[in-house]
Amino acid sequence: MLFTTNVGIDLGTSSVLVYVKGKGIVLKEPSVVAVRKGEMITVEAVGEEASRMVGRTPANLETIFPLEGGVISDYTYCEKMLRYYMQKAVGRPFFRPVVAVCTPCSITQVERMAIVKTLEQVGARSVHLIEEPLAAALGAGIDVEKPGGCMVVDVGGGTTDIAVISMGKTIVSDSIRIAGNNFDRDIIAYMKKKYSLHIGQKTAEQIKIEIGQADHGEISRQMEVMGRHAISGLPFKVSVTGGEICDTLSESVEQLSDAVMGVLEKTPPQLSSDIASRGILMTGGGSLLRGLDRVIAAKTGMDTFVAEDAVLSVAIGTGRFVDSLNGKKSIFSRKNTR
Ligand SMILES: Nc1ncnc2c1ncn2[C@@H]1O[C@H](COP(=O)(O)OP(=O)(O)OP(=O)(O)O)[C@@H](O)[C@H]1O
Ligand SMILES: [Mg+2]
Repeated sequence: MLFTTNVGIDLGTSSVLVYVKGKGIVLKEPSVVAVRKGEMITVEAVGEEASRMVGRTPANLETIFPLEGGVISDYTYCEKMLRYYMQKAVGRPFFRPVVAVCTPCSITQVERMAIVKTLEQVGARSVHLIEEPLAAALGAGIDVEKPGGCMVVDVGGGTTDIAVISMGKTIVSDSIRIAGNNFDRDIIAYMKKKYSLHIGQKTAEQIKIEIGQADHGEISRQMEVMGRHAISGLPFKVSVTGGEICDTLSESVEQLSDAVMGVLEKTPPQLSSDIASRGILMTGGGSLLRGLDRVIAAKTGMDTFVAEDAVLSVAIGTGRFVDSLNGKKSIFSRKNTR
């Protein structure tokens, strides 16, 4: 194992982050591939470059998101994307790297195997899986091996993973497909219904980040939004407020907080009291929606806080996990580790 590179990958629906032992996080790029269609289908761009093409491609180009709900939905392009990222992050290592990848809690055995096989194809010597909330807690600096319970809510792009962790194991968990991308879809639907304005996913995401809010406890921000008018077909501008976005997102936000309650209700009482004293940790890009922590705190009655590096926690934790694999067997290793 002496010269082996250890690599941790946060394989997310929205973005891929790669951690390399001794270097930290060396890559953070969107999970997207642009392909040129013709007699032969060829990869035109991957990551940032492909992301700039989303919603702007000519007929012979297509942008593909090879992950959906945190699992691989397009194996061919997921493999191409990961091959590119591995090459970019570690070059051509002398020995094949040991790779750890995080997965949503509710992943099936088939989906799990698909991730393992894909990474083996791109050159991994062995692949180790860790559940996203466990990685998030590790990344946020929580000593997950202790018997005290802690609750993690990881709001990503495709899934929200909710888990209660104790002694390095997930005790109760749930994974729902309500996360950041849903918020974008809600905004697209609202703009069309209220203003007859067609906007793309990128604009919806920009609205969410700039003025989005999950509760009315914020000063309502305002933003000019440009789109295509549904009737005239011409570019058209409207002014939107954070208050409107809050109402638009309320159903998704409620489903998300209901799922957190659902996990708490299934949590053994001893661990519930640990969570009551330690609070709920939120991670993932979606947890940055203003006021989402307040909504969950109000619903559960527990202190809720967003991790300092909310977007990086899972990747940092996956990195810590892969670092712990050298020599000794980590308590987080899963049976299906190959
Ligand atoms: N400041 C922000 N406010 C609100 N949402 C944000 C903010 N920054 C990022 N997001 C959203 O976070 C989501 C991406 O989060 P993250 O990178 O954690 O997802 P992921 O790990 O790729 O997805 P998953 O874990 O579901 O597979 C996107 O929907 C993005 O729009
Ligand atoms: Mg994630």
